[in-house]
Amino acid sequence: MLNVNGKTAFITGGASGMGWGMAKAFAEAGMKVVIADIRQDALDEAMEGFSKTNLAVHAIKLDVTDRDGWARAADEAEAQFGNIHVLALNAGVGIGGSMLTATYKDWDFSMGVNVGGVVNGLVTMLPRMLKHGEDGQLVVTSSTGGFSAVGGAGLYCAEKYCVTGMFESLATELKDTPLGASVFFPGPVQTQLGISTQATRPEHLRNEAPPPPPEAVGAKKDARPAPGFDTSLFMTSEEVGRRVLRGIRRRDLFIMTHPEFQKGIEARNNALVRAIPVEAPNEPRANLVAQFGTLMYNPVYDGQQPLAEPL
Ligand code: NAI
Repeated sequence: MLNVNGKTAFITGGASGMGWGMAKAFAEAGMKVVIADIRQDALDEAMEGFSKTNLAVHAIKLDVTDRDGWARAADEAEAQFGNIHVLALNAGVGIGGSMLTATYKDWDFSMGVNVGGVVNGLVTMLPRMLKHGEDGQLVVTSSTGGFSAVGGAGLYCAEKYCVTGMFESLATELKDTPLGASVFFPGPVQTQLGISTQATRPEHLRNEAPPPPPEAVGAKKDARPAPGFDTSLFMTSEEVGRRVLRGIRRRDLFIMTHPEFQKGIEARNNALVRAIPVEAPNEPRANLVAQFGTLMYNPVYDGQQPLAEPL
């Protein structure tokens, strides 16, 4: 278990939605919290709320794609609250739309934030966190789209699968250090994602015209009606924050919000298992197992314990 009381957290995308929910939950648990975000207006609004409490929260304007900005933000956070123990790489953009018609600008914008922003956070913060040698945890906000693909959101799935793999590897590499790594897979949550994605897309990465429908490039027209979302059914960011806090305390590899995704997880894993060739390995292939043991079976997955305690 990680004792979070008195420790410092740095949360990207911390001004709204799930990052804000994490900030609230972490600070209420006695942590000192830095919220870093590209939107100054959202930071101001969040700080107006936090200033009415006695919670220790500090805001820093940061574009996660800006590497120099990361170094400055890390220095400022340490000057304010000391060593960083919990790093939540949560900032993201939700660019939907089909891969069949996605442009380079769509890819560059969303990969830059959803993958590049995570890489920049790791490269800036991880050496500092390893150097101070105190217990801590890194968590990346993936998505249920980071373990199970859907059509019409290929860019998002590609990026979220990417950070899932990145942090599963990281957890393996951090095994003998005081740090751990978690992948957070939120399902549908009430946030500002649509608004913030629009607001933060830089001018040079905006398309000149809306992309054509996939039929325009030869795909069959999708006969299914577009889903109408009832966002009142979505989880609140406050509940999400408490779920992430519990996962960090338990040092879970995987943190989830919605039991409704169980069937989908099983379906994908079962499909992978069904794709395993049935031929018995011959002698040279048996040697492969000896050489690549941990590649074929990574004990990091055994560390995930069933959730027994309530939220
Ligand atoms: P949100 O829009 O409320 O929060 C995201 C925050 O990230 C915003 O405050 C935004 O200003 C900030 N941000 C965007 N680009 C940034 C940049 N370049 N540098 C710094 N900050 C930046 O949305 P939400 O939903 O709370 O998003 C948090 C994470 O959750 C994202 O990674 C998103 O992909 C992921 N997610 C969201 C789901 C949902 O249902 N809302 C479901 C699954 C994953």
